[in-house]
Amino acid sequence: MGAGRQLWIRLTGSIAWRFPRERHRLLSAFSRTEQGSSLDMLAAVAGTQRRDLRRKYFRHALDEWRHSVLFRRRANAQGVLDATEAGRDEAGLLVEHGIVGGRTLFERLGEEDFLAFVFVAEADAVEQFDVYRRHDMPDPGTNLALDDILKDEAFHVSYSRQELLRLAGASRPEGLASVRKARWNRVKEGWLRLSRDIGTVMGGLWLLIAYVLVVGPFRLIARLESGGWQVAPVDGRSALDRARSEA
Ligand SMILES: [Fe+2]
Ligand SMILES: [Fe+2]
Repeated sequence: MGAGRQLWIRLTGSIAWRFPRERHRLLSAFSRTEQGSSLDMLAAVAGTQRRDLRRKYFRHALDEWRHSVLFRRRANAQGVLDATEAGRDEAGLLVEHGIVGGRTLFERLGEEDFLAFVFVAEADAVEQFDVYRRHDMPDPGTNLALDDILKDEAFHVSYSRQELLRLAGASRPEGLASVRKARWNRVKEGWLRLSRDIGTVMGGLWLLIAYVLVVGPFRLIARLESGGWQVAPVDGRSALDRARSEA
């Protein structure tokens, strides 16, 4: 949280919200993140030993699922993908979220680190959505959705902060080792995501170079056999004719 991060959000946002494809990509990523958060919260409902927190985790899970649907609707409203592409896009959830090594996020972190993770992630999300909203970057429909979502996110920040401080017996989250760890992990995950994206771009680039420099010249010297492709007749009929007669 700081002026540097807000400037970065503003710079990247000014590009992302300008072009329909980028708008769709961003909204779609938000939808998947919210969906992943909802699943993490449901796992926490099952994992926590505290009844009071279980209720809050469950409400949190329902909120995140609703946000996911709202972002998905806004992504689809951009009208840049057909039904097949949209389905493929939604399937990206498992690439970015899910159970790692057979254990849920709650199981891996435990109650205090999980609450620290939720507090840090929710505070970052509020900051990001707030920058978009203050600078009126999204389209009017998405602005309305963000206003709606921000109310829930403010509750997520306040209850996770309160419960974390109660559990750790502290008065401020800043000095907590669990919060420092959560922030460091987010930086590390951001770096890994960026590295994966760079890897995808570089892989595409090398393939393009290979096609142009290696496969391309072969096409110039290659010729089709005389007569081109032939359909091999069976029983005097082609396979296509036989298939048609069986239909
Ligand atoms: Fe959310
Ligand atoms: Fe949230």
